[in-house]
Amino acid sequence: MIADFSCIHSIVVLTGAGISAESGLSTFRLKDGLWDNHKVEDVATPEAFRRNPDQVHKFYNARRRQLNSVVPNAAHRALARFEQHFAGNFLLVTQNVDDLHDRAGSKNLIHMHGELLQSRCTDCGIIEKIVYDLSTESVCVRCQRTGTIRPNIVWFGEIPLAMETIYDALSQCDLFVSIGTSGNVYPAAGFFQQAKMAGAQTIELNLDPSEGASSFDDCHYGLATELVPDFFQLP
Ligand code: APR
Repeated sequence: MIADFSCIHSIVVLTGAGISAESGLSTFRLKDGLWDNHKVEDVATPEAFRRNPDQVHKFYNARRRQLNSVVPNAAHRALARFEQHFAGNFLLVTQNVDDLHDRAGSKNLIHMHGELLQSRCTDCGIIEKIVYDLSTESVCVRCQRTGTIRPNIVWFGEIPLAMETIYDALSQCDLFVSIGTSGNVYPAAGFFQQAKMAGAQTIELNLDPSEGASSFDDCHYGLATELVPDFFQLP
């Protein structure tokens, strides 16, 4: 499966939890996924945080700590390597809040659902890089308030980050590749249609068909660590 990039000038790649699965991080909707073991409404909504902040902090603290024991896999590395050598525009949009794309070396990268390694103060808005656990006792480094620090994660019902930049890139791309996502959650699940409307070729690389699979121009199924290095082979 060697893609011909000679006439491609602008690429947008969307990734989901499936690209990090082979690094050892749980997906959300596969068997024994995160949403099998936690209710979204208990750990991933602003209401949950207001109702029981300790439970929400516990969920994200455990996921943050897990980052210490995982590393980027061949799929993360293949995307970073391709970006370094591709002469055109390359934007990687990830729904993932892990830091594996960052550690693999991806540069033009948007974490549209936020990042586990960031906190945000709900009072003064400052965003801080963190590696430690958060709690209701956490103190804001700027306004010194206690109890106002939350994970800088986009929860259900909140607006994903950098949407204008993403839609701008989708409107100009000539190749859109979706990797490791089930296509269950909007707006990310609709990105391939935006790209299609801009005339882009749309490709799905996934373990199994996503919700929108039948609308992609081309689909390849298997493990991301095999599909992605194969598709993004350097000339
Ligand atoms: N290689 C390729 N694809 C894989 C692999 C793998 N090794 N393992 C799993 N997948 C695929 C699955 O087939 C599935 O389609 O990854 C996808 C994971 O789907 P989800 O668990 O739904 O994760 P995702 O699509 O990223 O969820 C989107 O939902 O809950 C929210 O904010 C959360 O960002 C998340 C969003």
